[in-house]
Amino acid sequence: MDKLQIVGGNRLNGEITVSGAKNAALPILCASLLTADTITLQNVPDLNDIGTTLRLLGRMGVQSEHGHDGVVQLNAAQVHSLEAPYELVKTMRASILVLGPLLSRFGEARVSLPGGCAIGQRPVDQHIKGLEAMGAEIKIEHGFVVAKAKRLKGASIRTDMVTVTGTENLMMAAVLAEGRTTLENAAREPEIVDLAELLIKMGARIQGHGGDRITIDGVDALHGASHQVVADRIEAGTFLCAVGAAGGEIVLRRAAPGTMGATLDKLQEAGLSIECGDDWIRCSMNKRPRATGFRTREYPGLPTDMQAQLMALNTIADGTAVIVENIFENRYMHVQELVRMGAQIDIDGHTAVVTGVPQLSGATVMATDLRASASLVIAGLAAFGETTVERIYHLDRGYERMEEKLRSVGANIQRVKREAA
Ligand code: UD1
Repeated sequence: MDKLQIVGGNRLNGEITVSGAKNAALPILCASLLTADTITLQNVPDLNDIGTTLRLLGRMGVQSEHGHDGVVQLNAAQVHSLEAPYELVKTMRASILVLGPLLSRFGEARVSLPGGCAIGQRPVDQHIKGLEAMGAEIKIEHGFVVAKAKRLKGASIRTDMVTVTGTENLMMAAVLAEGRTTLENAAREPEIVDLAELLIKMGARIQGHGGDRITIDGVDALHGASHQVVADRIEAGTFLCAVGAAGGEIVLRRAAPGTMGATLDKLQEAGLSIECGDDWIRCSMNKRPRATGFRTREYPGLPTDMQAQLMALNTIADGTAVIVENIFENRYMHVQELVRMGAQIDIDGHTAVVTGVPQLSGATVMATDLRASASLVIAGLAAFGETTVERIYHLDRGYERMEEKLRSVGANIQRVKREAA
């Protein structure tokens, strides 16, 4: 398995171009199942999770072309299989996003249950509950969600908690249903808005996306469309944390600062200077960060996907930060690795108390999930000496050429390929 070797201590200076958002691109790729016409996408990041989704769609008969510069064309005119097999779903939970589109266009779907994952149980009961409310018959058979419906019917659905992929799945199911669907307690993430914007370009009738009540009036068919995927707010936030920890000044291009309010506020509290335009962010840091506690929340709160990276920043901050993880029950697996680098962190249930130390020391550490890996890279950039981050396949699922982007702003970071390792 590839690893990253980082020699800490270099300040970061220069420009980085932000990639398209993984979490917007995944449901958007699945939305191609909703029409027989071609969907053309720009700004699709080149990531393992995108490759997995294209393979999954390909198995079903969706033709796709992944060209240069993030352009992807998809055509689902000849779908011949309505199944998402375990071997693909187990590597990427977001595969569940084919359930809504398959069921609404073809009246049938067989999708492997994702099972547990490193950051917690993550059930899909709300996806199922919503589809049942729309008239689907759903059974769990041999580890698969087996769903059938002649034509889905609009319904009023209130999910028990705010769920991002749940809202996306139900929105994609509702666009071809008969009548009106209202999704109450809907997720408000920018990635939901991006998906809704594509669906509207395809002919869907959706209102209220970006709020917690989304109304969808079903139509008989959708058509082709072109869409540019929104910028990745988590990737952008990760680079800002890296500057906060290592010092320096960078400009992020093709960013979407309008989707990053809570993260930008928190980084300013930590002492970073931040200036934004419509699609760029300039940030600089010339001192030790200040400790800044936070609670993760649904959008527009502070994203759980930034928790690990902001924790890495706090490990070298002046003072003590109290961090509360509210969204997932087991999302502190980076803590033990950060402690191996000299961080002082105490965990009690969902709460982490981080007492900043003047400097971390490089170590060999192991990544356990996507954002945990990013936090270890940030720690490595700030640490004294050499850090090796192992198992970076997690990182490759969600960050496009991370080490190249960091090297381009002066980081001493190398990928060691499996053969050479
Ligand atoms: C999405 C993001 C992920 C992010 C998360 C929270 C994608 C592909 N992934 O994940 O990066 O960390 O949102 O912002 O967009 N839950 C249930 N039953 C359900 C659905 C969810 O109990 O049917 C619970 C989950 O276990 C979790 C909480 O609800 O505790 C929120 O999960 P959810 O928003 O669904 O996360 P994902 O959509 O899987």
